Amino acid sequence: MRRAGAQFCRALRLASAAPVEARGAAGVLGCAAPLEAAASWTPLAPASQQQRCRPYVSGSSAAGGPAVPAAAAAAEHAALARDAAAGPSSSSGGGGGGGGSASPGERADAFVLVREEIECVTERLRRDIFTEIPALERAAEYFFRAGAEGKRLRSTMLLLMASALAAAPPRLELLTVDSAPPAEHPTDPRRRQQRIAEITELIHVASLLHDDVIDSAGTRRGKRSLNAVFGNKVAILAGDFLLARASVSLASLRNPEAIMLMSQSLEHLVAGEILQLTADAEEAVSMDHYMRKTYCKTASLMANSCKSVAVLGGHSAHDCHLAQEYGRHIGLAFQLVDDIMDFTSTASEMGKPQLNDLRSGLATAPVLYAAEEHAELLPLIQRRFKEEGDVEAAQALVEGSSGLQRTRQLAAFHSGEAAAAIDAMSPAATPHAAEHRRALLELTQRVLNRKK
Ligand code: FPP
Ligand code: MG
Repeated sequence: MRRAGAQFCRALRLASAAPVEARGAAGVLGCAAPLEAAASWTPLAPASQQQRCRPYVSGSSAAGGPAVPAAAAAAEHAALARDAAAGPSSSSGGGGGGGGSASPGERADAFVLVREEIECVTERLRRDIFTEIPALERAAEYFFRAGAEGKRLRSTMLLLMASALAAAPPRLELLTVDSAPPAEHPTDPRRRQQRIAEITELIHVASLLHDDVIDSAGTRRGKRSLNAVFGNKVAILAGDFLLARASVSLASLRNPEAIMLMSQSLEHLVAGEILQLTADAEEAVSMDHYMRKTYCKTASLMANSCKSVAVLGGHSAHDCHLAQEYGRHIGLAFQLVDDIMDFTSTASEMGKPQLNDLRSGLATAPVLYAAEEHAELLPLIQRRFKEEGDVEAAQALVEGSSGLQRTRQLAAFHSGEAAAAIDAMSPAATPHAAEHRRALLELTQRVLNRKK
């Protein structure tokens, strides 16, 4: 497995246009693509220039500037994060203009605003997994039943994005369950955007089903995991089935750019999992490797689904790019907070055991920052906390360091960048759009402050 993984990672590196040595002391910063290529990337560019995972570009390099070595990037992040922590999203000017300000001063509850439409998407998801094979249906619906659906963060964000960019609020008849067959092409753009919400949830749950097999997890969302109930083989096939259903829905959109974006996020999910699984001793202690993995596993799906919604809404290249940036930054913030919660939240809050990452052998951002202050953490990270007492020792060292605080600062930085992307969008067309922008801004804070 390690061998296959190493080959895969080598292939990823070789796919990059720049030689590894040319990427400076930071090694593979972000995801191997030289930043010039990343900056000039367009969705339909040739494969060599296509978007590769590019998670850890600092504010300046995101705009096309040169790559910065890890230490410099981390310092820049820390400085920016201090600004972000000093006020309500310092990089967010609270603009939005047009039909109304998107200023975070006026609160808009993200989850309440799109609740009705989310219910419709949820109902369609339940219908999506109908099959004439009862065993498959039982397994596939396991995490779509009432009470087991999760937070629906992704679909909420996507429907908010659809309204935040729209020229007019959705017509009432579009706030009903879409009962068209999955393969039927939706004629209304809003229906197509709803399908992206549905497809994103299908992909997300499929990835969790596979992840729980890889991690031999016993619980998920506070319930027994599917692999624990039905076994590994059924869990893998149930995940494959969800992906198959997502593929039909995606094809029905007949939009090559959205198909490409969503397919790329699938590739990134696999790449992220492999990067994590096969990290060698050097990679295991590298913040760049961690951020690259985090982009692939968590932020890419959010980024590319947000952009797909914008593309399907027929918006400008500028707004499509900012939608993608919003998703990317909020995804990174979300995962960094998740990594903090592994230390600070209870098992019942998280629906999985505390210190799960350490026990799974993973060094996340709080540990990597702590290791900069306590070098004695390095050998523990490199042996993946496998010796008796390693997990407890690592926990104590993290808690006795600024690791959690620095991770929170980095999360605050990315949350601020997500807010800045909303503020940089072309003016909101209506007060309805402005209200949904405020909700997207509120989501950036909610992601930071969540406890579960
Ligand atoms: C959770 O990770 C897992 C993911 C975010 C993605 C997993 C991706 C794969 C298994 C690749 C295959 C992808 C598809 C679409 C089938 P975690 O273990 O860090 O978090 P957890 O604590 O929630 O389990
Ligand atoms: Mg897992």
